[in-house]
Formats: sequence, C-alpha cells, structure tokens
Amino acid sequence: MNGGTGSRIVLRNTLREHESPFDLSGDTRAGLSSTPKTLPSKYFYDARGSHLFEMITRLPEYYLTRAETEILERESGRLVEAVRPTVLVEFGSGAARKTRILLDAMVDRGLLEGYGPVDVSAEASRHAADTLLRDYPHIRVEGVIGDFERPRDLPFAGRPRLMAFLGSTIGNLEAEQATAFLASIRQEMTGADAFLIGFDLVKDVAMLESAYNDEAGITAKFNLNMLRVLNRDLEASFDLDAFRHRAVWNADASRIEMHLESTREQVVRISSIGLDVAFAAGEKIRTELSHKYTRQSAGGLLDAAGLTLESWCTDEADRFALALARAVD
Ligand code: AVJ
Repeated sequence: MNGGTGSRIVLRNTLREHESPFDLSGDTRAGLSSTPKTLPSKYFYDARGSHLFEMITRLPEYYLTRAETEILERESGRLVEAVRPTVLVEFGSGAARKTRILLDAMVDRGLLEGYGPVDVSAEASRHAADTLLRDYPHIRVEGVIGDFERPRDLPFAGRPRLMAFLGSTIGNLEAEQATAFLASIRQEMTGADAFLIGFDLVKDVAMLESAYNDEAGITAKFNLNMLRVLNRDLEASFDLDAFRHRAVWNADASRIEMHLESTREQVVRISSIGLDVAFAAGEKIRTELSHKYTRQSAGGLLDAAGLTLESWCTDEADRFALALARAVD
C-alpha cells in the first residue's frame, strides 16, 4: 500500500498538437469581426465564471439542475439495473451531487469499479478524481483530457459503460455540431454501453426566460464575466457598465439566446490582438445558445447520430428529460 490515491488515478491527454479547443485570440478576432458578433460560451468558465455558474444552479428561477437531480434520484436505480454498467464515463467532469447519485446506484448493486471523467480541463478532471476517490476508495479513475466534442479513446474500453452527458449542455451546440458530437460518441460505443443525456424541454416562455433573467442578477454577472475574461487575458478595454445582459427565447430556433448589448455607440480596443471593435448603440454580441427540446426533437437528434432512444424520463413538472440511448447496430 503506497498511501495516496495516485496509484488509482490515470489521466490521459488525448488532445493532439494544435488541437486545444481554447484559442481565445483567434475566436475573439473571428467572433467580433463577424455579423452578428458572437463569442463562444466556453469562455465563461474561468474560476469566477465557474463559481457564478455554481450559484446559478441554486437560483430559484434556474429549475434545470433541480429537475435533473429529481429524475436521477427517482430513476438511477432503474437505469443502472437496465444497463448493469461497471464504470461511469462522464463528459464534463463533475464531482457534484448528480454524479454521486449514479455512482451510489452502481455501488448499491455491487457494480461500481471505475469513473472516467472526460474534460478539457486537466484541473477539473484531477479535482473530480481526488474528491470522488475520497468517498469511493475502491474505484479506479481513468480521466481523459480532451475536447469532448471530439471524443476518442474513451476510458474503460471493453467494460460495460454508462456514459453520461448531463445538464443539457448539448443545448449549447448548433444542431450539426450536436449531431457530430453524438455520432462520435456512438462510434466509440459497444452493445454493452449506454448513453444517458439530459435535455431541457420546451415550455412556457416566461418560465424559460426567467431562468436566464434571475432577480438576483447572477446570470447577468455570469454573462458579463466574458468581457472581464477578455479584459484580463487579451488586454481589452470593455467598460462593463456599457453592456447589458439580454436573454431571449428564439421560437424559430427553439432556443434561449444570451447576448451582451452595447448601451451606446463605442469602440473597444483589444490590445493583445490589435483589434478595434466598433459597436452601434443597441448592437449585440451573442454569447450563448441554449437549445430546448421535445421528446420528438431529442429522439430525432439521437437518431441522426445512430443512437436509439431506449427510455425517456421527465421530472414531475415535465420541465427536463433524461434520455437513455443505445448504439444502433
Ligand atoms: C451549463 C450550458 C446547461 O445553458 O442553461 C446557465 C449554462 N447559461 N445560465 C444552460 C447557463 C446561463 C447552462 N448549461
């Protein structure tokens, strides 16, 4: 026995050279030079942004996390019985409550042998690994550091795996990207594996919009945090008081869109990339898409990726769904 948890943790970097999904300079130049202006939502999550997101998950208006947790608490036993997985592979590592509900259901049935977080952040994977090993001392952790939009070499090949993509994070992707992501996971799946994915559902517009326009203003801070990231990391000169948080339902595209709206005509200098960006009064930067689904649209998305919907569970109030899917042979 060598004491620490080190021997039970393996972290593998599957990113090829020049393949980091983070190119803040290039993405900012491209996004702020295009019409309409956009910035990728992945840049929300520095330390402050991750903390703000944590706060969002506890807001009274932000029902998503609670609804998904409710489904997991009710259905995890049944899901684990149906799949009989010995490992949990999770896209976007979480040492959070939701992960533990699934792990506990596997422990209760004497199945759990390993946990495989797949995350772009080595730090997040290591943190998830360390905290989980404390509470599940017998498991092995095989983390993969990689772009989870290009899953390859997923952990624990050859074992029956429950692969989980929770939180309706799929909703951040455009339809083609979402299909490509799911199809690449499907490529890695065998008949013994199953895929569990969270979908936020289409619902009353007022309820959707208030989830992204909370009274306490935390989502506004989260959105504006993107400009702080650019100010710090690209020596940009955004005046945070000259942009307003906007979140609106786009019915045609079935999604909430978050924007930062310039309150006046202004030019913002982004020094480290030598870019001056002109804004008209009222002009917006789109910072996030959050697609909402129906059982039919979610099933269609899975179908297009070669996955077939095996079960569909919603919370009591029908706000959120967890879909269990298998690879079509
Ligand atoms: C983490 C992508 C699921 O789209 O609801 C929360 C992010 N943005 N409030 C979502 C988010 C604003 C969240 N996801």
